[in-house]
Amino acid sequence: MEYVNNELCLGPLKKALLPLCANYMRPIYVYDLDFISQRYQAMKRALGPTRLFYAVKANPNVEILQRLKRLGAGADVVSLGEIKRALESGFSVQDIVYSGVGKTRHEITEALKLGIYQINVESLPELERIGSLAKSMGKKASVALRLNPDIDIKTHPYIATGLKDNKFGMELSLIPELVKCLKSHEDSIELVGVSLHLGSMMMEFSGYKEALQILKKIYVDLQKQFPTLKRFDFGGGLGIFYDRLDLELEESLLRDYAKITLETLSDLNCELQSEPGRWLVGHCGALITQVQYIKKTSAKTFLVVDSGMNHLIRPSLYEADHLILPLVKSQENMKADVVGPICESSDFFAKDRTLGKVSEGDFVAVMDSGAYGYSMASVYNLQELPLEICI
Ligand SMILES: Cc1ncc(COP(=O)(O)O)c(C=O)c1O
Repeated sequence: MEYVNNELCLGPLKKALLPLCANYMRPIYVYDLDFISQRYQAMKRALGPTRLFYAVKANPNVEILQRLKRLGAGADVVSLGEIKRALESGFSVQDIVYSGVGKTRHEITEALKLGIYQINVESLPELERIGSLAKSMGKKASVALRLNPDIDIKTHPYIATGLKDNKFGMELSLIPELVKCLKSHEDSIELVGVSLHLGSMMMEFSGYKEALQILKKIYVDLQKQFPTLKRFDFGGGLGIFYDRLDLELEESLLRDYAKITLETLSDLNCELQSEPGRWLVGHCGALITQVQYIKKTSAKTFLVVDSGMNHLIRPSLYEADHLILPLVKSQENMKADVVGPICESSDFFAKDRTLGKVSEGDFVAVMDSGAYGYSMASVYNLQELPLEICI
């Protein structure tokens, strides 16, 4: 992590964070947009012909969306709220892939009215619902089938989505019924794609490769019956390191992932789509928070800061370990639990962490919090949401 003149900086362009705290009022999420551009371009280079649909859930900040749109990304959304946010930020309906297991009648109706590019269907009843709503509106829905191949990518159970116990996607044994349903709705549904998303924080790709091979066969079989089928959406999920910043190693993992994907699917002659979130924005954000108290008990030292699980729930929810660094470099270290103000014992950023020594009033940054940070924040305990600043 970079300190320049003892001040913590963000991103490869080394943007200083301390000046942002001149009139500090409450915790700040800071995002480095140029860093996001670099990550997008690296992924685009690696994945070649693939169209990248940024997973808006990772961080729906308008300036981030505008930047990614300008770079050529589409948007992968999971609610009408995210559709609206994407449209407000400059994406067109032709840029939007709409996933999610719980699409309501209202949401599907609005998506059909708008003419959303692709709806990724997650269940047979959803496919039925789309067919009948589209028919009643005189519309034709473009759908992709999100399939669940029951494959383990060895990630935290709360972010695995490609196992048969997960609520996501459709079991392969359901395909005959899906085909029947598609045939019965051929006036109102056009099958355009097959989609896959196995989960998040994928760092090892053997399960992913197996899933691609399985879905490839299914794609070929389905195409014989549905010549409109032309897109293969291989989802998102590429992981990042939270315990260190090693962009070179991450890019080498990206190259492995891209090689497996492109080689496996090379002979399909279809449009490739991906839905990356974390990899694009995770490292590009930091959460700045101020030390309120150093509280010592007979068991521990607690560094009590003014932000917590209400602003960044990943440590509490997924046991995620984010680096925590003082904004001004310290020569000495301290060991503490870094905790927030929320009335829950699960409200912590780190336990028994050795970090640069800080005092009351100093600022620390919880690093790599650009993905699933602000987007999962709440107003629990009626604490205010953090500020967001793009640099
Ligand atoms: C359907 C879908 N696509 C893409 C993503 C993005 O995943 P990641 O941020 O790990 O790339 C998610 C995340 O949960 C998802 O559910």
